[in-house]
Amino acid sequence: MGNILNVLITGGAGFVGSHLVERFISKKYNVTVIDNLLTGSKKNLEPFLENENFTFIDFDVQNHIEISQDLDYVLHLASAASPKAYTQHPINTLKAGSIGTINTLGLAKAKSCKYLLTSTSEVYGDPQISPQPETYWGNVNPNGVRSMYDEAKRFAEAAVASYNRIYNLDTRIVRLFNTYGPKMKINDGRVVTNFISQAIKGEDITIYGNGNQTRSFCFIDDTVLGIIKAMESDSSEVFNIGNPNEITILQLAEKVISLTNSKSAIKFVKLPEDDPMQRKPDITKANKKLNWFPEVSLEDGLLKTIEWVENSID
Ligand SMILES: NC(=O)c1ccc[n+]([C@@H]2O[C@H](COP(=O)([O-])OP(=O)(O)OC[C@H]3O[C@@H](n4cnc5c(N)ncnc54)[C@H](O)[C@@H]3O)[C@@H](O)[C@H]2O)c1
Repeated sequence: MGNILNVLITGGAGFVGSHLVERFISKKYNVTVIDNLLTGSKKNLEPFLENENFTFIDFDVQNHIEISQDLDYVLHLASAASPKAYTQHPINTLKAGSIGTINTLGLAKAKSCKYLLTSTSEVYGDPQISPQPETYWGNVNPNGVRSMYDEAKRFAEAAVASYNRIYNLDTRIVRLFNTYGPKMKINDGRVVTNFISQAIKGEDITIYGNGNQTRSFCFIDDTVLGIIKAMESDSSEVFNIGNPNEITILQLAEKVISLTNSKSAIKFVKLPEDDPMQRKPDITKANKKLNWFPEVSLEDGLLKTIEWVENSID
């Protein structure tokens, strides 16, 4: 592309957002982050805070957003994202997905710029087909314990689709499946960091249920590349971004124990309500239309994440 672009990222102080900031700054783009630091941290942005191409705005996306500069891209990531965080902040999660999406769409419309929403595999709920293609409508409990997140994202998708249809706004939606890697919050209950920190400390590894439920884990570098390819593409479409390599939670626990040389034992505890039994993305579309495919193996990704967790806990 070659041009210097102006990029606005909501939720840029979080795990995925701060990696996107890093990529865009390395392209010499001007990057503005809007984040209320609900679940993110300014520490993730430390390397860029003094950079003249970087601006941080401490702001909640449920409020009207005014930005004076021209924008080329708006990426709306702001939302609590882990079950622990969205259960702690249900109303903010609903507002970030609903009002926050409308506000960021309005901003993109005013700036006539490209727009991207990070949606989630949670829109598929507890899926009745596997792998899940983008055409699957999902099996979601509309008022269950995870509904503040799942339904906010489903509303967000509907809002994006409407702005695209009515105003011809240049939008795309990426449905992220479980992503892991450095800069993840260690204590927010997500399974990869949970297992790694328990293994490093020699504590019991806690598995919810019998461990036969499956997930597919995508390393952050692959996820970020998928998001950027979707942003740069001319396709106003929905793309699954995830790694189709499906494993059971029990296999993940065993892998983490072996890679950390841990003496931890595995402990089985009660499965939370509405925990999906199966997750595996069908990424044929992203592969064909974005020429994207995850490349980092689970073992390599876990080793990088283990190193990061080791350096982050005392
Ligand atoms: N990490 C994953 O595995 C995954 C999977 C599916 C979807 N996603 C989506 O990707 C996006 C980023 O997730 P993440 O893993 O980086 O989570 P994260 O919690 O690390 O980052 C989210 C960021 O949004 C900010 N935020 C939350 N509510 C806000 C509000 N009302 N106003 C302004 N800022 C707000 C938080 O402070 C945080 O910095 C989210 O939209 C999430 O739904 C992530």
